[in-house]
Amino acid sequence: MYIREEIIDEIREKNDIVDVVSGYIKLTRHGANYFGLCPFHTEKSPSFSVSQSKQMFKCFGCGKGGNVFSFVSEYENITFPEAVKLLGEKVGVTIATEDQGEDKKKEYSLRARLIALNKEAATYYYKVLRDENVGKTGMDYFIKRGLSKEIMQKFGLGYAPVKSGLIKKLRDQGYTDEEMIASGIAVHNEKYGMSEKFWNRVIFPIMDARNRVLGFGGRVMGDGKPKYLNSPETVIFEKRKNLYGLNIARNAHKDHLIICEGYMDVIAMHQAGFDQAVASLGTALTIEHVRLISRMVKKVLLIYDSDNAGVTAALRAIPLCRQAGLACKVVDLSPCKDPDEFIGAHGAEEFQKRLDNAKNSVYFELDIKMRQFDLKDPDGESAFSKEVAMVIARMEDELERESYVKALSQRYNIPPQSLKREAMKLVAKNEGIELPEEMRTGMSSRRQEKEDALLTAQRYLLTALVDDPRIFPKVSDHVSPNDFEEGIVRDVAGVLFGQLKNGQANPAAIVDMYYESYDRDTVSRLFSSKYSGTMEGVDYENFISDLIVKIVGNRAASENTGDETEESDPIAGARLKADKRKDLKNLHIKL
Ligand code: GTP
Ligand code: MN
Repeated sequence: MYIREEIIDEIREKNDIVDVVSGYIKLTRHGANYFGLCPFHTEKSPSFSVSQSKQMFKCFGCGKGGNVFSFVSEYENITFPEAVKLLGEKVGVTIATEDQGEDKKKEYSLRARLIALNKEAATYYYKVLRDENVGKTGMDYFIKRGLSKEIMQKFGLGYAPVKSGLIKKLRDQGYTDEEMIASGIAVHNEKYGMSEKFWNRVIFPIMDARNRVLGFGGRVMGDGKPKYLNSPETVIFEKRKNLYGLNIARNAHKDHLIICEGYMDVIAMHQAGFDQAVASLGTALTIEHVRLISRMVKKVLLIYDSDNAGVTAALRAIPLCRQAGLACKVVDLSPCKDPDEFIGAHGAEEFQKRLDNAKNSVYFELDIKMRQFDLKDPDGESAFSKEVAMVIARMEDELERESYVKALSQRYNIPPQSLKREAMKLVAKNEGIELPEEMRTGMSSRRQEKEDALLTAQRYLLTALVDDPRIFPKVSDHVSPNDFEEGIVRDVAGVLFGQLKNGQANPAAIVDMYYESYDRDTVSRLFSSKYSGTMEGVDYENFISDLIVKIVGNRAASENTGDETEESDPIAGARLKADKRKDLKNLHIKL
């Protein structure tokens, strides 16, 4: 569905965000803003705020933010166009669809067709499993693996029979062969024509948060190869972004999620009452997965097989989780292979004990490293100490570093002073900060978000401009969008400056320039710095002047010294910078 921009603007303007959000959660007015309990993470005291003047919301707890469209689409788990349509209907704006861009139209309608097709396929497999004749093999298999009828229903499990009639059924319903191939349920072959991807396999439908079927996993009956067959990536199914079981686990209302590897493991855990379990879909965990999770909980328990491959998978997952701000622990199920086996052998109570005893991920990593060193040898011992120091050097938070210096020095018998010294050396040399490749790729947007003082000043200034547009003429005398950090911050500043020049700030409209919910959070953040212009005891003019000095000072310094001077004569460079700052110190904006 392609919707014209003017229509989007009209619908946004007609739906007051306070009214709309109040329809979902209870809001209480507090000064200029409204507050309530955040619907996107669990909390006891309200950190979710809605601003009527900005027409935006922001949670200071989980970081979620956006405008009325993003609120509705996140809350209802619907796409952006669906949210626009829903809110349009509320205020009597109908969306004209005849002027859709052809390509967009095709893409959206293919997505819709595939979602409908998958639903039909899932229903077919579901019914076959429950058929006493054709479905018997599959049903016997699930029963043998201890699944109850209820859990089979909850996960929509099915069976693809040896001679499946799915293609015929879908053709009868008007689906084309191309659509079946695009959905991944069928393949075309020169010799045999159309054939079904899944046959004689039990079927695990993979669903998104709205319970729409995106694809399937199928397990072979017996010992055939491959054991699991998964739908290919399609226009609706992206494995790096979806987790099996998340549609159910997101409603588990626990403070953590369990991440494991297998379909059967998720199901076995849910059946035993651990409905906070999810699995990545036959792929390694990605930064997208953990970001998705970090919007719901702040803690995860990792369960991987105890073999080498499992340990490697855990070692890759740990830094990703940390990257997304998730505290993580690793669960040991030895001597069992996986949760399904463990629960089958020892039951839910013992399983809970293993969860309770999950090992802090820092210890997990270092315990494994320790095995690679000969600690009886002084060289080995000092090499291992360096590894421990490296872990500390990587920690961004000072408090965290302090407490780990203590804990690790005790655990590994290294004097705390030398551990600290080693870590500081690494920080100074900028070592230890090197991250594995798979993290760096996913990290750019977070790097960008990193809160150094300069960026904070930029955020404050953007927020101030929206809160109090009167300051714009003065600010724009000194600052231009190019003074803002390259990337999303500069882009947003550019649009905001343009809006202010033409009359009025409209931060909620800027949010709609971004499709990724992660980016929308970032944008919201730029307009919702905790500072507010009316804060008591703060000299407002001074405050704004300081921000300008900080932002412009950064530009001035880099313009005047340039990298060359810095390299050839760092002291001269530093002096120049200091002089320039002194000039700027005298800047005082009168509002
Ligand atoms: P069960 O034998 O049914 O209990 O499976 P399991 O989950 O214990 O199997 P395993 O530990 O071998 O695999 C864990 C997960 O990896 C599975 O749930 C699948 O998602 C994936 N997987 C396993 N085997 C294959 C395979 O042959 N191909 C693909 N694409 N994925 C597989
Ligand atoms: Mn298993």
